[in-house]
Amino acid sequence: MESIMADTALATPPETKKDPGRTMSAAAAATCEDIVSPEVYSHPEQLDAAFTRLRAEDPLAWCEPESFRPFWAVTKHADIMEISRQNKLFTSGEREMLSYAEAEAGVYAQTGGPHLLKTLVQLDDPMHYKLRHLTQEWFMPQNVKKREDAIRSIAKQYVDRMEDLGGECDFQRDIALYYPLRVIMQILGVPESDEPMMLKLTQEIFGAQDEDLMRDKTLAQEKDAEKGLASINATLAEFFMYFTNITADRRANPRDDVSTVIANGTVDDEPIGQLEAMSYYVIVAAAGHDTTSASTGGGILGMLQNPDQLKKMMDDPQGVSRTAVDEAIRWTTPVKHFMRTAQDDYEMRGHKILKGESLLLCYPSGNRDEEIFDNPFTFDITRSPNKLISFGHGGHMCLGMHLARLEMQAIYEELFSRLKSIELAGEPTHIKANFVGGPKSIPVRYKF
Ligand code: HEM
Repeated sequence: MESIMADTALATPPETKKDPGRTMSAAAAATCEDIVSPEVYSHPEQLDAAFTRLRAEDPLAWCEPESFRPFWAVTKHADIMEISRQNKLFTSGEREMLSYAEAEAGVYAQTGGPHLLKTLVQLDDPMHYKLRHLTQEWFMPQNVKKREDAIRSIAKQYVDRMEDLGGECDFQRDIALYYPLRVIMQILGVPESDEPMMLKLTQEIFGAQDEDLMRDKTLAQEKDAEKGLASINATLAEFFMYFTNITADRRANPRDDVSTVIANGTVDDEPIGQLEAMSYYVIVAAAGHDTTSASTGGGILGMLQNPDQLKKMMDDPQGVSRTAVDEAIRWTTPVKHFMRTAQDDYEMRGHKILKGESLLLCYPSGNRDEEIFDNPFTFDITRSPNKLISFGHGGHMCLGMHLARLEMQAIYEELFSRLKSIELAGEPTHIKANFVGGPKSIPVRYKF
């Protein structure tokens, strides 16, 4: 752990350049704290209101929130696409996600660069392309389809579990949280007995701003960058230890799983480095789990809060599941943002983005863009076409999107072809996280 992560150098994050005359618009000044606040992401209406105002008044908004380096908030669907498809001009390697300025400084001090890991989302081509290429084939629709029977059997297992719970449960905490975890762990070849530990570690990485999901709960009260970094380092150390053993095993005993592909992967005829391999396991384990859990629950919540849509699903699960899945993923938008950094000056919406400035791709806003979606605030499980931007776009577009869709379709079909009734049995809550989030609790009452 020490040897691959603590490449200490006296480096600091680059100063964000900006046009000296630039100031925040009234809309940006009023909303920029909201769109970075983990707390606000647990109140979707408040977040929607902030983004709706930005889309209307300042769709490419210069934002200077208090604890973060400044950025452009990109809130229109077309602009998110335009930036995402130009991976040379708008890179991921310098700043791929929001992090407190102090925490960024801590990572620079520890590693000499912006990242603790080297995952696909933090890399640029050519390395990004070469590493992505290793597993891309695995996640193509024809290959994911080969796993359909196994996925449907896991879906059945979790619907059985819901039935066994006897008429009341928390759909998010009891079902949606574990089902995608089981699927991705099977794909990685991690035994079921290790799943509770994997769940804890992935939640600590992605839900790190929610006090219930934190490793060090004192961080909920005091924002201490040093402690925060220590906590994430401890989580990564556990991940690394676990997957170092998996790598050794898959080199000795190759199997039909993604870990075998990663462990034996080569780039330019050399085995991939330890940090690259560890980062690969982390991104597949973490990205493949929380996102799909959130969307699975988010779709169920959408249906429970819109009984006409629930009825449509109950009447014909097989007929509507495909469009329902995409609407669930649009509605929930579990990945709240990624960032890019401009490598050259660029004109957009009458502004000049300067080389070195970063951009926040606001996916929840793109998914409510009135210019793209009819009635964007209506949950419609038959929506078609559905130009959801939840999976991103361009060279980094989600590697696991076909898997995520198949998983969700499988559980919706299994669940709604067996359920006789389902309703909310309490107030749902949402995760406090500005990166990956969605429902935290969905109490339900039901009959099979
Ligand atoms: C990348 C969303 C499920 C693996 C991404 C990105 C988004 C995203 C927004 C970044 C795209 C960009 O920068 O343009 C989602 C959503 C999911 C989901 C909404 C579920 C509903 C999965 C699953 C896996 C996965 C099941 C399992 C393997 C990845 C990986 C990347 C990625 C490896 C990095 C790709 C790259 O940088 O080249 N995902 N994801 N995701 N996702 Fe997903």
